[in-house]
Amino acid sequence: MRRVISMKAWVDKDGCIACELCTNICPEVFRMGDDDLAEAYVDTVPEEAEDAAREAADSCPVSVIHIEE
Ligand code: F3S
Repeated sequence: MRRVISMKAWVDKDGCIACELCTNICPEVFRMGDDDLAEAYVDTVPEEAEDAAREAADSCPVSVIHIEE
C-alpha cells in the first residue's frame, strides 16, 4: 500500500544540550549545525530512517526532538 503521509522531524534548538545522541542514532536526519546544536537537515524523513528518527526523539534527554507523521 502506498503511503501518502510522510514523517517530519525537527529540533527545538532552544533546549538542545548538544549531547549528540540524535546524530548518532539517526545520522540520516540529524546533524550538528554550525551553532553546535542539533538540527534536522531533511525535509522529509526517509522511510528507512523512520524507526531511527523515532528512537532519537525518544532518546533525547531533554525531549526537544519533535516528530510529526
Ligand atoms: Fe540535542 Fe537532544 Fe540531539 S539534546 S543533540 S537534540 S539528542
